[in-house]
Amino acid sequence: MKTLAVKLSVVLALAAVILWTAAADAQNGKPPTVKEAMSKLNKGPASLCPLVGKAIKADPPNWDEIQKESKQVLVLADALVKNDPPRGDKAGWDKLAKAYWANAKQLDDAAQKKDKNGAAAAHAKLASSAGCNGCHKAHRN
Ligand code: HEC
Repeated sequence: MKTLAVKLSVVLALAAVILWTAAADAQNGKPPTVKEAMSKLNKGPASLCPLVGKAIKADPPNWDEIQKESKQVLVLADALVKNDPPRGDKAGWDKLAKAYWANAKQLDDAAQKKDKNGAAAAHAKLASSAGCNGCHKAHRN
């Protein structure tokens, strides 16, 4: 139990750092680049998407934490839509970025309603490796 508590506090501390950097960027007024957004969303186990996925599975879930994270996921997904792709055609990018955004929106809506099953389903779509690979193949350098 004690080690679990320690692990949890490490995860929460990391989440706080991520949220803080995302908020600091938002205050600068410039939207994050695709690389910055991807890195904050998906790079490593301490990035937002894996963290929020873990948090949804907790029993009971910490909705305050999940809601903050899902809002940040949505802001970063929005940055994908607003940016041009580093590679590949813009029309294809728009479709994939908007699909990613729609899953992020579904996740945030479910989180705001504290709907555990809905949040888990939306997160599974957001984290689907088919989605990652399809977009990387077409648009990642
Ligand atoms: C809508 C398109 C899209 C989707 C969906 C997407 N990615 Fe990416 N990702 C990119 C692009 C484009 C880059 C390259 C950004 C650059 O280097 O400019 C990238 C880069 C990355 C990077 C490297 C970040 C860095 O710091 O250099 C990681 C890690 C990553 N993606 C993970 C994922 C994972 C995991 C998923 C699925 C859960 C995913 N991505 C889904 C478009 C996407």
